[in-house]
Amino acid sequence: MFMSCSVFYVISMVFLPLFRPVFTKDFTALCSTCRQLVEEFDKGLERTSKFNFGGGNTAWEERKLSKYESSEIRLTEILEGLCQSNSFDCNHMLEENEEVLETWWFKRKTKYPDLFKWFCIESIKVCCPKGTFGPDCNSCVGGSERPCHSNGKCDGDGTRAGNGKCSCDHGYEGEFCLDCGDGYFSELRNDTFSLCKECHKSCVGCIGATSNDCNQCRNDINECEQEPHPCREDQECLNTDGSFSCKEEEVPASNSEDVKSDDLPEKHEDL
Ligand SMILES: *[C@@H]1O[C@H](CO)[C@@H](O)[C@H](O)[C@H]1NC(C)=O
Repeated sequence: MFMSCSVFYVISMVFLPLFRPVFTKDFTALCSTCRQLVEEFDKGLERTSKFNFGGGNTAWEERKLSKYESSEIRLTEILEGLCQSNSFDCNHMLEENEEVLETWWFKRKTKYPDLFKWFCIESIKVCCPKGTFGPDCNSCVGGSERPCHSNGKCDGDGTRAGNGKCSCDHGYEGEFCLDCGDGYFSELRNDTFSLCKECHKSCVGCIGATSNDCNQCRNDINECEQEPHPCREDQECLNTDGSFSCKEEEVPASNSEDVKSDDLPEKHEDL
């Protein structure tokens, strides 16, 4: 009993890591690969917009031009320049989905001109529309229009990954990024909007912007008199309001001359 358990344990420790990549796809990376691929496709469209089957501009070739526009030759030319040869992710995605791109080119292009939306979001399902996340493209916390109420970043925004929760910008906090962080006060707020501003530097917390709005005043500590001394021995300590700085001691002019000439590389005459 004991043996079989530990054997199973050893086997799973050795083999599970090997299987993991099969089960967990990195949708963040796949979506960004897809986005780049579509960008390159658009560049390819641009690059080939002046081409035609043979060059020249006779009336006969003018007529041919309209055919080239949606020809297989043009598609091939675009696909060939799509991925850098050393980009494994791009080439892999292209190989796996060349037929999908062909379908778009020949049958869907007119009806669905936005290739990113059609290909990355709806066909191969590695991205989501802006403001949505995860396998089913659910709305981010705060809604897809203004994720995190525009005061933070939604986890997985625009990809099939993430949990849709917010990491708030500096000065904001709470699940919805509507609350103000330490050292900030609320200037404007309703159910869907919040603007927090930094307190005056003399306040610990505050209800407004000026030094009269402090909940508590910041006692200036003279760091220069504290032990251990905050600066190096050769530096001058300057106490400032709420902080301090260390400054290099002035080196007399004659000394600095000496230092300079010592630092110069040896001259040829000396050799
Ligand atoms: C909340 O405030 C913002 C900014 O002032 C405003 O644009 C928005 O309409 C307000 N929403 C509500 C529900 O009052």
